[in-house]
Amino acid sequence: MADLGVRLAGVALRNPFLLASGIWGESGASLSGAWNAGAGGVITKSIGSTPRPGYPNPTIEVYETWGLLNAMGLPNPGIDEYPREIEAARRAGATVIGSVFGGDEEEFARLAHQIEATGVAAVELNLSCPHAEGFGTEVGSEPEDVERIVRAVVRSVRVPVIAKITPNAADPAGLAEAAERGGAAAVSAINTLRALAIDVTLRRPVLAHGLGGLSGAAIKPVGLACVWQIYRRVKIPVIGVGGIRTGLDALEYIMAGARALQVGTAITFGGVAVFGRLNQELSDRLDQLGIARLEDAVGAAHAAHL
Ligand code: DHB
Repeated sequence: MADLGVRLAGVALRNPFLLASGIWGESGASLSGAWNAGAGGVITKSIGSTPRPGYPNPTIEVYETWGLLNAMGLPNPGIDEYPREIEAARRAGATVIGSVFGGDEEEFARLAHQIEATGVAAVELNLSCPHAEGFGTEVGSEPEDVERIVRAVVRSVRVPVIAKITPNAADPAGLAEAAERGGAAAVSAINTLRALAIDVTLRRPVLAHGLGGLSGAAIKPVGLACVWQIYRRVKIPVIGVGGIRTGLDALEYIMAGARALQVGTAITFGGVAVFGRLNQELSDRLDQLGIARLEDAVGAAHAAHL
């Protein structure tokens, strides 16, 4: 059986499949559940400075074949309440990565510092929620902003800093370069694509918030393209995310340049049991191709394409 272990910015992962932020990461019990089901690590919901109820319903539209459209509104209990959930997941033995969102570099730095105190292995910065006013893409679409925020966070924590960048920008790889200049240890690509659904009977958007973020199978080719371009332009590791449902999807991302992966929408459809299946399928694919270690496949598709 192929070795699925990877080192990511100094953090040893037992396999490359991370629970993506915002999915199943609300409580210590749900984070532990994903870990016990075989995730290589779990990323929390994005946590902010104060409790947020999120947007009113409807917040999700389900497209059975190709994914989800959602606008939750960054609901979270706030940084003062959340650490107990992380501590519960850590007691269960999970490798936990804390996700935070802020409106400027001071807020990001303070939140990262606070979440670090819970013993997380790394901090991921949500620079890419596609619709929250004052957060996400509103602060993460310009390279200068990304670099400044990442630099401030890197100064405030000891753990590796991961920048989750948006595909809703002219040059996502340029944002990854900016994150690298700011001192990021890794970049995650991609977050959801800004998207819309219309209810023609009601003559209004389906989601209460209007615009939402598209995830799932439909965005896999976009994620692959971003990972591919980023891999060619930065030295830091890339975490691939967007529409990973099978071991084959995972291997495509790895050969495009991803060293680790995040799984989100597939959990919504299949529950955390998806992690066990993904590990098995990826291992089988590597065996079929005669690749003994996952790390040997990272970026493999670039070798023959100059
Ligand atoms: C939300 C946040 C995100 O980062 C995202 O990609 C989609 C939705 C939210 O909480 O609304």
